[in-house]
Amino acid sequence: MIMRTYPDKYEISTITKGGLKVSIRPLRVDDAPLFEDLFDILSPRTIYYRFFMRLKKPSKEMLAKLMQIDHDRDAVLVATDIKEGRERILGVFRLMCYPDRKEGEFSLLVGDPWQGKGVGAKLLEHGLYIAKERGVELVLGMALPENKTMLALARKRGFAVRWDSDACAYDMIIDLKS
Ligand SMILES: CC(C)(COP(=O)(O)OP(=O)(O)OC[C@H]1O[C@@H](n2cnc3c(N)ncnc32)[C@H](O)[C@@H]1OP(=O)(O)O)[C@@H](O)C(=O)NCCC(=O)NCCS
Repeated sequence: MIMRTYPDKYEISTITKGGLKVSIRPLRVDDAPLFEDLFDILSPRTIYYRFFMRLKKPSKEMLAKLMQIDHDRDAVLVATDIKEGRERILGVFRLMCYPDRKEGEFSLLVGDPWQGKGVGAKLLEHGLYIAKERGVELVLGMALPENKTMLALARKRGFAVRWDSDACAYDMIIDLKS
């Protein structure tokens, strides 16, 4: 299991545009059950938009892969709140960096009940802040053409959005050097 020092300095509490009180923190290795709970409530559309394939549940191997993080190189953040005394994950930001750590690919996922309330925007903001702080220069992502929310969010946050005819999807690119 790759798990360097847990970067607790990246933990924040915030209130989203839609009024949700959330904590944003790096993913922990023992978050797997919370992650599975999030997956259980995702609509097929959300899963498709995030993983570009139709999936019911992540396989054990996929879950293990999603939980395996090198905190020194990558940034995986979860937005959480507390419901009836129990923490739950509302959304996940993932930035997987290339070996040179100058570029990385991001993805975002917010559970259906909390979409459109600013959770994705907060996760993206904090994720890009961490990327910039670490000297990542270019952050890239991909969104399906029908994914208007992600494309709107990316444009708003300053990403250049370009059609990739080979992938039949939009590339989202932001240069953090400036
Ligand atoms: C895309 C996604 C991550 C966005 O997160 P979110 O929490 O729903 O989005 P936010 O509430 O932060 O909205 C951010 C912006 O998106 C736009 N937006 C939100 N809902 C929208 C909608 N239904 N239609 C069009 N634009 C929308 C708005 O511009 C909004 O900014 P504003 O609040 O300042 O107006 C989330 O909807 C999601 O997980 N979708 C499924 C998985 C996915 O698409 N992942 C992206 C692949 S990388």
